[in-house]
Amino acid sequence: MRYLDTEIRLMEERDLDKVLEIENLCFINPWKEKDMLYEMKENPLSNLWVIELSNDSLGLKTICGFCDYWQTFDSGTICQIAVHPDLQGYKLGSQMLEEILKDAKAKKIRTLTLEVRVSNKKAIGLYKKFGFNFSHVKEGYYSDGEDALYMIWEDK
Ligand SMILES: CC(C)(COP(=O)(O)OP(=O)(O)OC[C@H]1O[C@@H](n2cnc3c(N)ncnc32)[C@H](O)[C@@H]1OP(=O)(O)O)[C@@H](O)C(=O)NCCC(=O)NCCS
Repeated sequence: MRYLDTEIRLMEERDLDKVLEIENLCFINPWKEKDMLYEMKENPLSNLWVIELSNDSLGLKTICGFCDYWQTFDSGTICQIAVHPDLQGYKLGSQMLEEILKDAKAKKIRTLTLEVRVSNKKAIGLYKKFGFNFSHVKEGYYSDGEDALYMIWEDK
């Protein structure tokens, strides 16, 4: 079996359609094109990354996930992370988060926070695996009334 290689890099405008497709497949209230373009081009806090699968011999390259985090001085917030539903469970989310944490450390970020739906066991498992700890519940945080877990990662 031939395995596909991955590359994790900053998002570019040519990635937009694929990122929006993944966003639409993964989230109940997806960001629209204008929101994603704002994140990519205008928001000075934003760090928007993609993970791309490639296979040179097949001439194949495809975006299969993305992650956006904001930096404010020495702290950050993970706003979005998603992997295409057909490719979830193949450690692509782990590869991206590992890279994001490396990037955050290089930028001297000491703490990263995030909100996650209490029902989102996959994402909670991913965050715990990379050292995010549960802080508290934000009741009714989501527009459909679901609670969020607030989680924190600290560079020790
Ligand atoms: C959350 C998400 C990014 C994870 O990406 P992924 O590529 O599927 O994750 P990985 O294969 O790297 O798995 C990472 C870890 O998640 C946990 N995990 C995966 N599937 C799980 C499940 N069904 N139940 C519990 N934990 C699970 C495991 O700890 C796993 O690590 P391990 O296999 O080494 O034990 C992906 O599922 C996704 O895009 N979900 C929809 C969007 C979303 O909910 N984003 C998060 C918003 S807060």
